[in-house]
Amino acid sequence: AIDISKLRDQTGYVTLDVGYKNTGATKSNITFLDGELGVLKYRGYPIEQLAEKSTFIEVAYLLIYGELPTAEQLTKFQSDLTHHTLLHEDMKKFFDGFPSKSHPMGQLSSLVAALSAFYPESLKSNQTAEEQNQSIIKVLAKMATVVSWIYKKSLGHPVIYPQNKYDYVTNFLNMTFGQRTEEVEIDPVVVSAMNTLLILHADHEQNCSTSTVRIVGSSESNIYASVSAGISALWGPLHGGANQAVIEMLEQIKNDGGDTDKWIAKAKDKNDPFRLMGFGHRVYKNFDPRAKIIKKACDDILEKLGINDEVLEIAKRLEEVALQDPYFVERKLYPNVDFYSGIIYRALGFPTDMFTVLFALGRLPGWIAQWKEMKENKEPIGRPRQIYTGATNREYVDLDKR
Ligand code: ACO
Repeated sequence: AIDISKLRDQTGYVTLDVGYKNTGATKSNITFLDGELGVLKYRGYPIEQLAEKSTFIEVAYLLIYGELPTAEQLTKFQSDLTHHTLLHEDMKKFFDGFPSKSHPMGQLSSLVAALSAFYPESLKSNQTAEEQNQSIIKVLAKMATVVSWIYKKSLGHPVIYPQNKYDYVTNFLNMTFGQRTEEVEIDPVVVSAMNTLLILHADHEQNCSTSTVRIVGSSESNIYASVSAGISALWGPLHGGANQAVIEMLEQIKNDGGDTDKWIAKAKDKNDPFRLMGFGHRVYKNFDPRAKIIKKACDDILEKLGINDEVLEIAKRLEEVALQDPYFVERKLYPNVDFYSGIIYRALGFPTDMFTVLFALGRLPGWIAQWKEMKENKEPIGRPRQIYTGATNREYVDLDKR
């Protein structure tokens, strides 16, 4: 009998879609987005409602398990997480090995991959549902500690251990900004802002880093390796690295005298590689709904914290000019989620090179949910095809004849 699936593999057409602009890689019931209408929903709930009403941990639960948690489920989830926030003491040796000025994203990707060495049960490719859930809880709980410790190490300060009395976000902020010598009050305004930022970044369907997590996981790699690969994919300035690039750009514009028209002209000049960072999106061709929420949050938070940041004015001016300029209008280039996020991170006290790490912390529940869904769907190993354009037949030439 003929095995039709094999026949199709060997003789079917190959669709060439460089950058996967129109190619779906999976069916998913996690996140819906409509780029034309500017709609984003997690599991059917509009992002606007989630950002206003829920906490990051509720959203993480929703993304990973498919439903908003009941009060009881939320308490259990939080308690499970707080009981796994500690890192193995030997992990500290890895932190010590990095030069203090090395980029936090490189450290994060390596440290998350290194966690697999301490939790080898995650290496089993046929984990039971309970074992898989334990791995999920561990990576979610421990990554916040890793991120805080990267920051502490960059300052040369002693690390702060997680404390079970705090919720996830407060614990993270305490490990980041707390001190060993005295109790530091964590401002509820900062906790709320952090929750909003993490929620807005929590998932975005098949973007570069999420597709990476799914494709790495599809070879049955463990969750730490899959998430570590997602972190590497997120690092680039065309993806998560844009939040750092935006602030650097705004600072550069400020130091150059704040002439936004000049920089808009540069972004339009096809002979100049400069792009307006934080502008444009592969999918949103109307507006990015997250950018609207973040712009408003940015105004609120800066006001509440009593901060007057000149780069916020520059950002608003750039947006205003760009939105009226035919170049940006014709190409449907609007501010994306990261145009304003960096200004908030900075107001909260984070240094620029930590911004993309914070994006990774926010995106983690999305990566986990997508990894879990890929496994539940029993998706085959990801393996794109190609159109070969190289030489056809060549005879080997001996070294002395070349
Ligand atoms: N500034 C100036 N021109 C731009 C910009 C920009 N920020 N973004 C796109 N364009 C232009 C391109 O030059 C191109 O013009 P052309 O048609 O004359 O050649 C056109 O708009 C389409 O751009 P592409 O690069 O083909 O669009 P693509 O969908 O591949 O890229 C991307 C999307 C990577 C986000 C792009 O808009 C960009 O580089 N933006 C700046 C970086 C950024 O903010 N990245 C964060 C993305 S959101 C996130 O990951 C959370």
